[in-house]
Amino acid sequence: MKKKLLLTGASGFLGYHLLRVFANDWDIYGITNANEFDFTGAIPVKCDLTNYIELGNYFDDIEPDAVIHTAAIADANFCEQNKEVSHSVNVEASKNIAGICCDFQIPFVFTSTDLVFDGKKGMYTEEDEKNPLSVYGEQKAIAEDEILKIYPEATVYRLPIMFGYPQASPENYMHGFIKRLKQGEETTLFVDEYRSICGARSISEGIFKLMGKTSGIVHVAGRERLSRYDFGMKVVKVFDLNGGLIKQGSQKDVVNMAPRPADVSLNINKAMALGFYPMSADEELERIATEKYF
Ligand SMILES: NC(=O)c1ccc[n+]([C@@H]2O[C@H](COP(=O)([O-])OP(=O)(O)OC[C@H]3O[C@@H](n4cnc5c(N)ncnc54)[C@H](OP(=O)(O)O)[C@@H]3O)[C@@H](O)[C@H]2O)c1
Repeated sequence: MKKKLLLTGASGFLGYHLLRVFANDWDIYGITNANEFDFTGAIPVKCDLTNYIELGNYFDDIEPDAVIHTAAIADANFCEQNKEVSHSVNVEASKNIAGICCDFQIPFVFTSTDLVFDGKKGMYTEEDEKNPLSVYGEQKAIAEDEILKIYPEATVYRLPIMFGYPQASPENYMHGFIKRLKQGEETTLFVDEYRSICGARSISEGIFKLMGKTSGIVHVAGRERLSRYDFGMKVVKVFDLNGGLIKQGSQKDVVNMAPRPADVSLNINKAMALGFYPMSADEELERIATEKYF
């Protein structure tokens, strides 16, 4: 009999990929809130994670063998303007789920972000000091600390910006960009904002591979340190788009509601020593372009 996985954020962008990567080996209960997921290989569970009583009841009913908690309010600008609402999901609900997993003594995976760093250094290791610039980064940083305090055996994966299949979320980072170019719109991409950008499918395959192998903080991200411009040019090449529409820009010329760090590239040696080996951005883009549906 398969083990039972409770996946929060199943209707989200990363959830889309995790559902498909885990479905063969796990019975998945996918928690959604305002939206639904379009996948027959998992059992949908409607639950607002800030409703602790309801969530506790679901745990009692389902009795999961493991939990992957990806649900979050991940829009940094929204968090900046809605601190209390985002705190209740990003921090309080995360703490609560960690507490329940500790009570059940089951593996608990929390997805955090590279934005816990200030971006002054780049190629951050798990031991580097956090110093988030945005409310979203701060909430994730607090959640990491609180989770590991409540349940030291929990696993915290710090993730980079991810790209993936358009049907996962048409508005995701890469597809908004492709859409603009197809409509003939000029697009400016920063040459001085660096990330260890990675495909969400590679990240999900990594989370699958590392399941149960580690605890504490682990960086799970791409192998390359790419500027937004570098990545954009890769997308242009693979999808045969008009690269002439891309202009080079500087992060310093734009004021964002949520301050954005310059270089939050991540050192992934720890994850690679555990067997994580993501596709390069080129390989993953080719996979998306050729497979189309996943
Ligand atoms: N995407 C990235 O590039 C990126 C980069 C670094 C880290 N991360 C982290 O990775 C995780 C997944 O990100 P994502 O891009 O998949 O996010 P997303 O597409 O915005 O999805 C967020 C998910 O959270 C759920 N959710 C939000 N509030 C909820 C609530 N009160 N109760 C229950 N569910 C709730 C949403 O459910 P409904 O839609 O059904 O309401 C949705 O399934 C997050 O923890 C994020 O911080 C993402």
